Amino acid sequence: MTDHPTSRPLRSRAWFDNPDNIDMTALYLERYLNFGLSLEELRSGKPIIGIAQTGSDLSPCNRHHLVLAERVREGIREAGGIALEFPVHPIQETGKRPTAGLDRNLAYLGLVELLYGYPLDAVVLTTGCDKTTPACLMAAATVNIPAIALSVGPMLNGWYKGQRTGSGTIVWRARQMLAAGEIDHEGFIKLVTSSAPSTGYCNTMGTATTMNALAEALGMMLPGSAAIPAPYRDRQEVAYRTGKRIVEMVAEDLKPTDILTREAFLNAIVLNSAIGGSTNAPIHLAALARHAGVELDIADWQTHGLDVPLLVNLQPAGEYLGEDYYRAGGLPAVAAQLMRRGLLHENALTVNGRTIGDNCRDAVIEDEDVIRPIDRPLKEAAGFLVLRGNLFDAAIMKTSVIGEEFRERYLSNPEDPEAFEGRAVVFDGPEDYHHRIDDPALAVDENSILIMRGAGPVGYPGAAEVVNMRPPAYLIRSGVHALPCLGDGRQSGTSASPSILNASPEAAVGGGLALLRTGDRVRIDLKRGTADMLLDADEIARRRKALEEAGGYAYPASQTPWQAIQRASVGQMHTGAILEGAERFQRIAQTSGLPRDNH
Ligand code: FES
Ligand code: MG
Repeated sequence: MTDHPTSRPLRSRAWFDNPDNIDMTALYLERYLNFGLSLEELRSGKPIIGIAQTGSDLSPCNRHHLVLAERVREGIREAGGIALEFPVHPIQETGKRPTAGLDRNLAYLGLVELLYGYPLDAVVLTTGCDKTTPACLMAAATVNIPAIALSVGPMLNGWYKGQRTGSGTIVWRARQMLAAGEIDHEGFIKLVTSSAPSTGYCNTMGTATTMNALAEALGMMLPGSAAIPAPYRDRQEVAYRTGKRIVEMVAEDLKPTDILTREAFLNAIVLNSAIGGSTNAPIHLAALARHAGVELDIADWQTHGLDVPLLVNLQPAGEYLGEDYYRAGGLPAVAAQLMRRGLLHENALTVNGRTIGDNCRDAVIEDEDVIRPIDRPLKEAAGFLVLRGNLFDAAIMKTSVIGEEFRERYLSNPEDPEAFEGRAVVFDGPEDYHHRIDDPALAVDENSILIMRGAGPVGYPGAAEVVNMRPPAYLIRSGVHALPCLGDGRQSGTSASPSILNASPEAAVGGGLALLRTGDRVRIDLKRGTADMLLDADEIARRRKALEEAGGYAYPASQTPWQAIQRASVGQMHTGAILEGAERFQRIAQTSGLPRDNH
């Protein structure tokens, strides 16, 4: 148990102990007493710890946090704090329309107001489903009070006829099987639902597993805790330890900006490559870095991450699932391997008050088939490529999911890697794609590149996970299971498609993709990091002029107030797709001081 108060006054004292404004103090006290806190507690000088609850019936991936929060509370109380739990705007990746991507900034905004405007000295962030983790971390970085993240953990492994079935990943495969006539509708549903046998988030290395791993890699979560499956008893135990630890962090005044340094972000980039992490990570880390005031460029992903080997054998890049990963040692075991090659900044501080080096250096691999030793990786150089050209200023490609043949031909042949050239087949949004993909008139063949546009932060709005597109059914039946895809939307972290994603600027704000037409030739040179439409400058200028005269790339009207607000201020994905500010408001990266009294 830690001693309180410290020499530093607690933030919450401004609410409960204000001799200059005794009326207000009374008002605040009166309201917090009526659910059972005593005057004695509120006057005790104990730190008040928020539990930012992301679980609800609308967010089943995080719902187990409703149970875990009880253990967090006990930990907080045991260490001498007072716990106040409150809801965060729910985000559920697959349930929210038009896309959960729209809600990250909304949950962020809401949480900033709560952390800033209430008498909280610190917060436990309950993370899980894809965007809940970055939304919570971004808010904590903005308000910069002591914060610790608690992952809800993945679901148990899914099984079907003796095979592991992983969330999301099985959907992409089952879709192809359905299109090829190998299974019927009922078989499709059975296969897909088998992948979700318990509470928790997606059990593959999708965006949820990735972002929780990266929260730990950044130092914002207790070491070894991100990967514990949701129903395991260890999960309950770490919830308790998280509650205890946050109280100590108040005494130590250990704040997000002490932990979220550039070195921590570079560690996260390196670890993301080694785990085969999601293509959504660069967007969320860029957003978090900007709220933490850290310089991080999209180019850092290639500079620091590309040459890192893939060590974790999890779907979609590999074979296993969340339970296997945890049993094999989780993130600390991966970090220990990377340290052997000097790939991590070992001095980066973490929430337990120790460095990532001290936390992880001695971690061992318990199963070398699931987590590979660094001298026997699954793949060398398995990070993200960052591409540019006349189609966009920045886009990324996840190389850990590229097939060996493709890699050999277009990327790793050191003498003369070929550029990939193909005929563009352009879709304006997923509805257009679903409507037309199987139409023989499109003449999609094995030399086609499928293009998705209108799917970015402004166009969709919110940036949807729609860039990974299956080939037409007739091509799948003839053995072509994947075509190169490129677009200004995102791709699910559970997909293994070799796609070029997150193209910025998007078509909706005048990016080069808006000028492309079906039938144009597109050239992608992975070795040089370029992607271009093969049109001469005059033709590009003509099309640009015509687009401007038509009033720009057309996209559907906003349907809710938030869609309109987000569209008016959101930035592009390579810089985090955060609220940049707009005509009537200025972007605020960090809150300052304390809020004024409310009466
Ligand atoms: Fe929520 Fe995958 S849909 S974690
Ligand atoms: Mg997703």
